[in-house]
Amino acid sequence: MTHRLRRCHISVPGSNEKMLLKSTKLDVDVVIIDLEDAVAPSEKENARNLVAHLLQQETWRAPTVSVRINALSSEHCYQDILHLLDHDGAPSARPQTLILPKTQRSSDLLFVDQLLIQIEARRGLDRATGLEALVEDATGMLNVGDIATACERLETLIFGMGDFAASQRIDTLNIGDQGGYAGDLWHYPRYQLIMAARAHGLEPVDGPYANFKDATGHAADCTAAKCLGMTGKWAIHPDQIAPITTCFSPSLEAVAQARAQRTAYEAALAQGLGAVSVDGVMVDQASIKLAAPLLAQAALLGL
Ligand code: COA
Ligand code: MG
Repeated sequence: MTHRLRRCHISVPGSNEKMLLKSTKLDVDVVIIDLEDAVAPSEKENARNLVAHLLQQETWRAPTVSVRINALSSEHCYQDILHLLDHDGAPSARPQTLILPKTQRSSDLLFVDQLLIQIEARRGLDRATGLEALVEDATGMLNVGDIATACERLETLIFGMGDFAASQRIDTLNIGDQGGYAGDLWHYPRYQLIMAARAHGLEPVDGPYANFKDATGHAADCTAAKCLGMTGKWAIHPDQIAPITTCFSPSLEAVAQARAQRTAYEAALAQGLGAVSVDGVMVDQASIKLAAPLLAQAALLGL
């Protein structure tokens, strides 16, 4: 699977040319161009044509550009895929990944996978388009383990809390907030999706927090998602990019602590010891497993 930085993914409505052009200049890991819920039904075809055109004309500063296509249940899904991929433009004029919304079972992804296999063969493309599954209703969440096994090109499972809340009739009106709930409203579905993703070598990604003026609530939401094991989170507004990117990057303190643990553990091993005390904390092989992804990300980011 292609390794990508996946801390912050900003969504941009595919019908809004001004925002799309602005998104080319954003310093962010992933730009998601949306053809689904942020595009009015009357604008679906215009948006699709605009996005296919801009992908041929523009280059994005973000290393990854993804497109959220329309759901299988709509009449737009296969047309979206054909317009974005089945053309004779350069390979770079195609999105790196497609995001399938409202994924309910692994066979949903197989449909897209099979279509992509045919297009890639017809166009002689050697770079496979990645696939990402938005799991965002009760049916999808019950099938999340099966969804995670769908096909090799699947890269992420994304938790979409807006549609999920609607499907379960959760009592909230702002996507991503806690409603009136005293605990952590999203703990259970997030946990399920993260376990399914990690069990199958996929990256779990958290959906958006719609109230972009509420920096405090957004920060708490980022921290909750990060603590449970999410790799990154969607943004819907440029102001959310910096807080999300910072939250999902290793802190310098954590990197220093992980390095100290690794150094002490290696010294212990050389003396035939499997466990050692570092600043009053027991460190053994499991601690090194905890530190490994953090140190790998730090190396990738040059920290
Ligand atoms: N991508 C790129 N640029 C964006 C942006 C986005 N997601 N959201 C806002 N901007 C730009 C605006 O165009 C504006 O640019 P300007 O200063 O050059 O005029 C600037 O950032 C400030 O925007 P602001 O005025 O604060 O917000 P807004 O009222 O223009 O837009 C939203 C608010 C919510 C409509 C807009 O952020 C949006 O459409 N977000 C994405 C929605 C989406 O993709 N939903 C589906 C996935 S959940
Ligand atoms: Mg949705």
